[in-house]
Amino acid sequence: MSNIGSLLLQGIGTFIGFALLALVIVWFVQDVTQKKHTILRNFPVVGRLRYLFERQGEYFRQYFFANDREEMPFNRSVRGWIYRLAKDEGGTIGFGSTNNLSEPGNILFVNAPFPTLEVEQTPTPACIIGADYCREPFEAKSIVNISGMSFGAISAPAVRALARGARESGCWMGTGEGGLSPYHEEAGCDLVMQIGTAKYGVRDRSGALSNERLRELAPRVRAFEIKLSQGAKPGKGGVLPAAKVSEEIAAIRGIAPHVDSISPNRHHDIANADQLLDMIGRVRDITGRPVGVKTAIGGWDFMHQLCEAILRRGPEWAPDFLVIDGGEGGTGAAPQALMDHMALPITEALPRVVDALVEAGLRERVRVVASGKLVTSAKATWALCAGADFVNTARGYMFALGCIQALRCHANTCPTGITTHNRRLQRGLVVEEKYLRVANFTRNMNREIDMIAHACGLRHAREFRREHVRIVRGAYESVALSTLFPDCSPRMRGTG
Ligand SMILES: Cc1cc2nc3c(=O)[nH]c(=O)nc-3n(C[C@H](O)[C@H](O)[C@H](O)COP(=O)(O)O)c2cc1C
Ligand code: SF4
Repeated sequence: MSNIGSLLLQGIGTFIGFALLALVIVWFVQDVTQKKHTILRNFPVVGRLRYLFERQGEYFRQYFFANDREEMPFNRSVRGWIYRLAKDEGGTIGFGSTNNLSEPGNILFVNAPFPTLEVEQTPTPACIIGADYCREPFEAKSIVNISGMSFGAISAPAVRALARGARESGCWMGTGEGGLSPYHEEAGCDLVMQIGTAKYGVRDRSGALSNERLRELAPRVRAFEIKLSQGAKPGKGGVLPAAKVSEEIAAIRGIAPHVDSISPNRHHDIANADQLLDMIGRVRDITGRPVGVKTAIGGWDFMHQLCEAILRRGPEWAPDFLVIDGGEGGTGAAPQALMDHMALPITEALPRVVDALVEAGLRERVRVVASGKLVTSAKATWALCAGADFVNTARGYMFALGCIQALRCHANTCPTGITTHNRRLQRGLVVEEKYLRVANFTRNMNREIDMIAHACGLRHAREFRREHVRIVRGAYESVALSTLFPDCSPRMRGTG
């Protein structure tokens, strides 16, 4: 019996050996005869390892080779920080910082010699968007909020977990440009409905903005946001690959299923500042809700033209809020040329936008929301110092949902179920578990921002000014943000 067994094993081994040899010979012949790849022609068979390592490297680098502060877009240290906040494990680390305090661009807050005692601290006040100018102003409670990611780019369980987490923690959730789905609405959170260039979810049969749809949607959301552009791909419309355009997503957007969903790179009916104000006025009149604008910033012309048009027509025409998205912002899918090289980073765009509003006397009228890798309390606090009233983050919340930065968001193969419509992969994202992480992340971000405020000697997070943060220029030198961008904003802003 044992002899037969060993003969059988020998036979299988010989067969596998011959099969492998045959495979190597086939590969060898294929490699030396093909003309596309130099490496394979010169190093047949062995050269294939290079392509394997190149493909798999991006997934394994983070575990084996990369240092804590090395990777892009987010390094392990930042991801770990977010995971800890989301799991409510506290933001505490031991021994000492691995953050290089001399690295140019690093931010350092100005600690007060006599920090604010607990008895002197006051809760961060809510901020009203659209006060005096809308029939239904929106009282926004959280400094940190969920930036728009369309249903389509992200999955149904991801939308459900985010919406429930938003409801639990009191932040708002942006719908992104993909329309309003039942998953957004089921938890009853504060929703900011985006009107993208294709007007998904708010369009009539011809693709134009529908007044009837606006009326239907108005009672179901808190505010509307007209998207001119987003930081990852200014000048390019959204792309949802056909593989992700299911029947359900197509119905919500008002388009055909299973074909690429491509939105135009500009609103057909908005070609200048006046037309933008017309659109804002129309949506606000019909819905009674605050109406904002989301845009990336390339230069200063846009803000000057916008402020000039508002001053000419009157403050009632102004957007109730501006969402400024830095060029470093994320997306489900975009061309690398735009992702890597288009639009100013939030560090430069935000202070200039705030200054333009202050100079025009519109700072109190228009609330400012900032986004662009503001995923930690320190980065969010920098934005408050620079003049923002709120911070939005998309990828911060993706990490809270369990994103491992596999960078497959465009491919419908997301291993964590966030950006895929593959049911098997979505199984891993358990809404009942993940919504708590979303809520924890919001609460702990707000808490840490307050903690920084108290260490700076402030009562709450709405008292931050530019003098409270310094920007590192190199070894032995940092400069106050108020010196880089002289602060002309009024002392108390954003409340009321
Ligand atoms: C998967 C994904 C989908 C997104 N979808 C939209 C969208 O539909 N509309 C939009 O204005 N921005 C969209 N964004 C951009 C984010 O709302 C946000 O502006 C940007 O990612 C910057 O924030 P972050 O750096 O915290 O991610 C998306 C981002 C991601 C990662
Ligand atoms: S884990 Fe999913 S959501 Fe995160 S980067 Fe990878 S593909 Fe995108």
